[in-house]
Amino acid sequence: MPDLVFLDGRYVPRRDALVSIEDRAFLFGDGVYEVTRAVRGALVEPERHLRRLERGLSALALPYSAADAAGLIDVSYRLLAECELTGGEALVYWQVTRGVAARSHQFPAAGTTPTVYASASPFTPPHDRRGTGVSAITLPDQRWARCDLKTVNLLPNVLAKQAAVAAGAFEAILVRDGAVTEGSTTNVWGVVDGVVWTAPRTNYILPGVTREVVLELARERGVPVREEPIFAADLPRLDEIFLTGTTNDVMPVTTLDGAPVGTGRPGPVAAQLYAALAERIGMARGD
Ligand code: PDD
Repeated sequence: MPDLVFLDGRYVPRRDALVSIEDRAFLFGDGVYEVTRAVRGALVEPERHLRRLERGLSALALPYSAADAAGLIDVSYRLLAECELTGGEALVYWQVTRGVAARSHQFPAAGTTPTVYASASPFTPPHDRRGTGVSAITLPDQRWARCDLKTVNLLPNVLAKQAAVAAGAFEAILVRDGAVTEGSTTNVWGVVDGVVWTAPRTNYILPGVTREVVLELARERGVPVREEPIFAADLPRLDEIFLTGTTNDVMPVTTLDGAPVGTGRPGPVAAQLYAALAERIGMARGD
């Protein structure tokens, strides 16, 4: 299968796509990214991913216009076609950095061209985990105060995910000031007595595209939803916990910190919302 990526305006074989050692993302993590799903050649929620990217570009004052960012949609479709990924599931990655400049913390001179990278890769959704659910651990949220921006500064997320994997778990659920913020790569939800809770949209969580869609789907179906904090002290009495994200859809958590969540089996609310999401994005059902 051809493996082309897009780098700075050109489509090149992945192995030839090289970035300078002076790229600001390499030196400072100075850039933003998006991970978008493609199902049978169609991007899932591209406009929402684009809006979040534009918000990040503007918050970081990256000189890459909304019109340029919008061009990433066409780039993505070309990559999916060139890489022969229009038949099944794929992930499309976008990254924009502040470009290449001699190392100095302040922004480089005006006119420094951003580095723009996009790629498409085959993807297998973790449907095999949905039937049993996954395990998670809780960890302190040690990230900065702009978790709402999808920057490539992911070290605390990397460390949290690695701690989860080392503990035999799928995800780390992060807790700040006694309340759940989100997972290392997912948003987190809880269910008590049929009411669904998820952390409110603040600077301490990423406004997940899947989170937004699942909120809409829940409301359309009359499922009561509260965008209010889930306190860590209440976690043991939740009937269900589930995660949402581009790479997980809706994933039940059936074990938390070694103890069963609710009945210890995937719950009905997660199943209902997964079915609604699968229908919405036209996914082949995997369960
Ligand atoms: N991560 N929270 C964090 C910290 C995330 O990194 C992600 C996604 C989400 C879910 O957002 P969305 O529904 O828009 O995918 C929440 C991507 C997949 C990643 O970094 O690979």
